[in-house]
Amino acid sequence: MSDRESSEGTTRRTVLVTGAALLVVPACTKYGDESSDEVTLRPAPASPTGPGSAQPPAGEVLGTTAEVPDGGGKVFKEQKVVVTQPTQGDFKAFTAICTHQGCIVDKVENGTIDCPCHGSKFRITDGSVARGPAERPLEAKQITVTGDRIRLT
Ligand code: FES
Repeated sequence: MSDRESSEGTTRRTVLVTGAALLVVPACTKYGDESSDEVTLRPAPASPTGPGSAQPPAGEVLGTTAEVPDGGGKVFKEQKVVVTQPTQGDFKAFTAICTHQGCIVDKVENGTIDCPCHGSKFRITDGSVARGPAERPLEAKQITVTGDRIRLT
């Protein structure tokens, strides 16, 4: 019985350590907070993007152009990126992390990228604030469109 407990104890500890590491990463990658004391907790960078280490790696395919409606956009929640197409064939990308308190925006509607938490809206053309309480625009992300593939760059 003690062997079993020991084995389970090891497994539980492993899970807790892994969980702790996962909790640390987002806290270290808060946008616009370069002065955070949490920088010392940042794991060794897996990519040269520095603070964007929780962001998808450059070159990752986000999706296809067909997924992003003309005059609208799509939130890629897993990658925390929103891609818009303000005018036909003109694709733009922004972080999906709201500048108010960090919620993930959840929809693109009527020309704005909308946050569900407190109602902030950002313009699909440039990520600027259309309605508060957010005061800062969504950070632009660089993408390339090759054929019908949209990639982060
Ligand atoms: Fe988005 Fe508050 S976190 S509006």
